[in-house]
Amino acid sequence: MLSLILSILTIAVLATQLSSQLAPSGPWDAFNYAPKTRIVYATSIRHAESTSESENLLNGDNGSATLNGNGAWVTLDFGKEVGGLISMNFDSINSSSSSISLAFTESPMFISPTLSDDSSFPIATMNYDGVLSVPAPLDVGFWTQPAFSLRGGFRFLTIASTGDEFPITISNVSCNISFMPHVEDMTAYTGYFYAKDTEFEDEDFLTKLWYAGAYTVQTNTVAVNTGRQVPFEPQGHWANNATLGVAGPIIVDGAKRDRAVWPGDMGIAVPTQFVSTFDLIPTRNALSTMFANINPQTGALPESGPPLSQLGSDTYHCWTLIGSYNYYLYSGDDEWLNTIWANYTLAVSFIEGKVDDSGLLNVTGLRDWARQGGGGHNSEGNAILYKVLTTASALASYANQSSLSRAYAANASSLKTTFNTAFWMPDVGMYRDNTSTTLTPQDANSFAVLFNVTLNDTQKEMVSQGLEKNWVEFGAVPPELPDTISPFISGFELQAHFVAGNDSRAFDLLHREWGYILYTNLSVQSTLVEGLTANGSLYYRYYQGYNDDAAYTSHSHGWSSGPTSALTFYVAGLTITAPQGREWSLAPHVGGPMNRSQAGFSTALGWFGVEWERGVGESVLSLNVSSPESTSGVFTVPRGVNGTLRVNGTEVSKDAREGDTIEFQGGYWQILITNENV
Ligand SMILES: *[C@@H]1O[C@H](CO)[C@@H](O)[C@H](O)[C@H]1NC(C)=O
Ligand SMILES: *[C@@H]1O[C@H](CO)[C@@H](O)[C@H](O)[C@H]1NC(C)=O
Ligand SMILES: *[C@@H]1O[C@H](CO)[C@@H](O)[C@H](O)[C@H]1NC(C)=O
Ligand SMILES: *[C@@H]1O[C@H](CO)[C@@H](O)[C@H](O)[C@H]1NC(C)=O
Ligand SMILES: *[C@@H]1O[C@H](CO)[C@@H](O)[C@H](O)[C@H]1NC(C)=O
Ligand SMILES: *[C@@H]1O[C@H](CO)[C@@H](O)[C@H](O)[C@H]1NC(C)=O
Ligand SMILES: *[C@@H]1O[C@H](CO)[C@@H](O)[C@H](O)[C@H]1NC(C)=O
Ligand SMILES: *[C@@H]1O[C@H](CO)[C@@H](O)[C@H](O)[C@H]1NC(C)=O
Ligand SMILES: *[C@@H]1O[C@H](CO)[C@@H](O)[C@H](O)[C@H]1NC(C)=O
Ligand SMILES: *[C@@H]1O[C@H](CO)[C@@H](O)[C@H](O)[C@H]1NC(C)=O
Ligand SMILES: *[C@@H]1O[C@H](CO)[C@@H](O)[C@H](O)[C@H]1NC(C)=O
Ligand SMILES: *[C@@H]1O[C@H](CO)[C@@H](O)[C@H](O)[C@H]1NC(C)=O
Repeated sequence: MLSLILSILTIAVLATQLSSQLAPSGPWDAFNYAPKTRIVYATSIRHAESTSESENLLNGDNGSATLNGNGAWVTLDFGKEVGGLISMNFDSINSSSSSISLAFTESPMFISPTLSDDSSFPIATMNYDGVLSVPAPLDVGFWTQPAFSLRGGFRFLTIASTGDEFPITISNVSCNISFMPHVEDMTAYTGYFYAKDTEFEDEDFLTKLWYAGAYTVQTNTVAVNTGRQVPFEPQGHWANNATLGVAGPIIVDGAKRDRAVWPGDMGIAVPTQFVSTFDLIPTRNALSTMFANINPQTGALPESGPPLSQLGSDTYHCWTLIGSYNYYLYSGDDEWLNTIWANYTLAVSFIEGKVDDSGLLNVTGLRDWARQGGGGHNSEGNAILYKVLTTASALASYANQSSLSRAYAANASSLKTTFNTAFWMPDVGMYRDNTSTTLTPQDANSFAVLFNVTLNDTQKEMVSQGLEKNWVEFGAVPPELPDTISPFISGFELQAHFVAGNDSRAFDLLHREWGYILYTNLSVQSTLVEGLTANGSLYYRYYQGYNDDAAYTSHSHGWSSGPTSALTFYVAGLTITAPQGREWSLAPHVGGPMNRSQAGFSTALGWFGVEWERGVGESVLSLNVSSPESTSGVFTVPRGVNGTLRVNGTEVSKDAREGDTIEFQGGYWQILITNENV
């Protein structure tokens, strides 16, 4: 009965899809963090010192507050991560020597009238950036922060009086959101996800997390002339007016910093973007920027985009190539593929050229996601190369280069064999980091399962089990970067547990790691932090590049948004397997802490949606799936499910078992699996 009601609701929802590319509206919209308007105001006063009527600053331009002389300050809380230029009105200025300063921070740990959190450079004294000084004389009237001093990510703004003893009366303190500059309505998502978590203390955790990941990537989507300046500004300053690439808008790693293109980060951020906003132009611009900066002699791609323009990373070289496949899969952009094809194939040749007589890639471009010990015959680099070769084979086939496609596939196949011989430790049930260690890295083991470098399902299960040994209260601690929690690499691990078929282990990791990240009051409770120490502190990478500076950590990093695409692709279970979704797969993981789940997304072909519900009466599982007419898909019976399978009321199998598959043409289908023995 319940499932019948569900179906009637679904038809209403699907009807609205025919005319629109947007996601249907529903209770999930309440969790969309994106601001409805570009001008936003603070939602609460965090602290006020010698300031009168500070609450008036929450009323837009309807009332003023007075900073009562030097030493007065007020901290505004925008309620979530924002980024953009601050404006305000100076209503009365009693002295020509009145002046103010603005200090910004993401984490409330670094609220101060004299310091911002750090973005220009990390130092142990945590006082690099300083404040934006607005010098005397202040003119009565409307004031806007100069463009170069943009803060791309903050939640708290502190305004301090820094001149003399005279009062300064201000009003209308607003932030003009600078991210997603090309989009009118930032809440207009093309995808959605909804489920109630029956295990976590907040039943809306999964839905909130899905939207937090989506919003994180939106805050990382920026105008091309708003990059962090390199060389870095001197201490006491910051500047975000550098040019980031060949065109904008463009996707960068973080809202506050680095504000530069990083292709590894895109390995997580771009699938997030696909399932939520389908805003792929910033990705195309980022990838085009990498190809435009290829070394024409060697074929090496840079590790990061300008002005940072780091060189010398074999893994990030590979991520640009994998990212090209993702962009093409989602967009089907033939024109772009043909434009970059010569440079793409040159770049594949460059990395294949590092495969030596052993049959393995010798990693000599050592820069990476901060992990240690990555050089030589390293399993992480080789797992990533395997993904490069399988995706290059697919892309060559789409580019109508069939013999090249076969050659890439053959190279992938032999790399897979060599990889397993070199790195698999049968007694441990995991892969080792290189041929002279027993260290079992989080990254390579997660990649091996996710990219299918494993030879059989038993290996997948063993690796999934082995990865759990790295867990502490707040998540997974990578052996290759001790005393760290990396939501970037954990995003791949999360997917690996689903691929290995262990849904409860995947949800355990999700609850531990992102359950902490989304709710801890050390962070912004709306976007996702780049990393933590093993005990959950903000001193991420304190010993590895970040110089003991907890204030440097970014609280809005797209690479931490792995759960967003994982919830859509694995939990709701809908994913695309050919460009634009011409072919798709429906393979839900129903072993998690929810009785039903629903999600959908759009491509240029139209709307893809699924709703499933578990265990109502004799029904073991009922699913409704919708896809554009021109497509075809494959449904896989989920783990733990069996019984009589009907499609649109017609019995298709009396004894469907987990792993059985059924092919579908595009359209709307109701799938019902019943089992009278339940
Ligand atoms: C300011 O006052 C106007 C008129 O009363 C009202 O429409 C508007 O919503 C107020 N703005 C804010 C931000 O409270
Ligand atoms: C500041 O100037 C305003 C008018 O601009 C005046 O009403 C107010 O009394 C002055 N306050 C002080 C402390 O001088
Ligand atoms: C960026 O801003 C700084 C500080 O105002 C200025 O010196 C510099 O010329 C600006 N650079 C660009 C590229 O606009
Ligand atoms: C308040 O600030 C907004 C946004 O910057 C601006 O559009 C508006 O004109 C200001 N209102 C007044 C009364 O100055
Ligand atoms: C907000 O910033 C954008 C981009 O710089 C600008 O075009 C727009 O005029 C600003 N809005 C207001 C109200 O100042
Ligand atoms: C390809 O690489 C060359 C350098 O060899 C560069 O000049 C060109 O812009 C690149 N083309 C594309 C489409 O990125
Ligand atoms: C990888 O190449 C470097 C540079 O040629 C060389 O020094 C190193 O010995 C090689 N590593 C392995 C494992 O062959
Ligand atoms: C490959 O060939 C097909 C059929 O001619 C064509 O539609 C498609 O655009 C070609 N692929 C690319 C990347 O140009
Ligand atoms: C993964 O690898 C196995 C064994 O090499 C192969 O049988 C299977 O088809 C592969 N799976 C996918 C999804 O490519
Ligand atoms: C899976 O592959 C591993 C590595 O080659 C091998 O040791 C193991 O025996 C295989 N297991 C099964 C069940 O085929
Ligand atoms: C079939 O599913 C029922 C529960 O729905 C379960 O108890 C039973 O073990 C399953 N049988 C098989 C062979 O998977
Ligand atoms: C399956 O049934 C639904 C509901 O009755 C109907 O809307 C849909 O068109 C049917 N699908 C096909 C492909 O016939």
